[in-house]
Amino acid sequence: MPTGFLLTFEGSEGCGKSTQIQRLCARLESAGREVLLLREPGGTIVGELIRHLLQHEKEAAGMTPETELLLFAASRAQLVREKIQPALARGAVVILDRFLDSTTVYQGIARGLPMESVRAINDFAVGAMRPHLTLVLDLPCEIGQERIRTTGRELDRMESQPLAFFEKVRQGYLGLAAQEPERISVIDASLTIDQVEAQIAALVEGRLHAL
Ligand code: TMP
Repeated sequence: MPTGFLLTFEGSEGCGKSTQIQRLCARLESAGREVLLLREPGGTIVGELIRHLLQHEKEAAGMTPETELLLFAASRAQLVREKIQPALARGAVVILDRFLDSTTVYQGIARGLPMESVRAINDFAVGAMRPHLTLVLDLPCEIGQERIRTTGRELDRMESQPLAFFEKVRQGYLGLAAQEPERISVIDASLTIDQVEAQIAALVEGRLHAL
């Protein structure tokens, strides 16, 4: 029976996830792997509607942290059943731009919602599914913020949080990586794009060969 591989990318704003995910995806596809690339929130029609509400809908500015948590989880519940489970069953490599750890860190640690509730809601959304490997792209928050500012585009609801929020996010990810070193690897995202790419490729290829 084919078993796929679930790889998740995590990190704070401006850490370069999207660029690295694109590069890894191209690399794996040219090696003949089936790759499914998805983002959270989003990745399905329902999920993209939820993403709009969470990030761009001006009238949703008054959203409470509890509502935010449930909406991220709702998008994830749809994605797991509609896209991730079938792809893993086919033996594909599924690459997720954010997953469970984002909720633990952003809503649990940075927003300060009770961790038992965050855990219970995450479990309800995904069941027993866990990533085989999670890569945290780590970067000092000031550099991440500067990278976003230089794009010149309007900041979304999450990107508009104060710097202290992103400090909590960064420390949250480093704490999770220390708790689960087998699953979570921290990558220094302040290196050049090519250096980061090479580190990621070595880690992922090692894990895929070990399957
Ligand atoms: P991104 O797709 O540009 O990374 O933006 C997603 C934003 O949503 C980012 O600020 C992180 C945030 N987020 C959460 O707060 N909780 C979650 O569970 C997820 C998936 C994302």
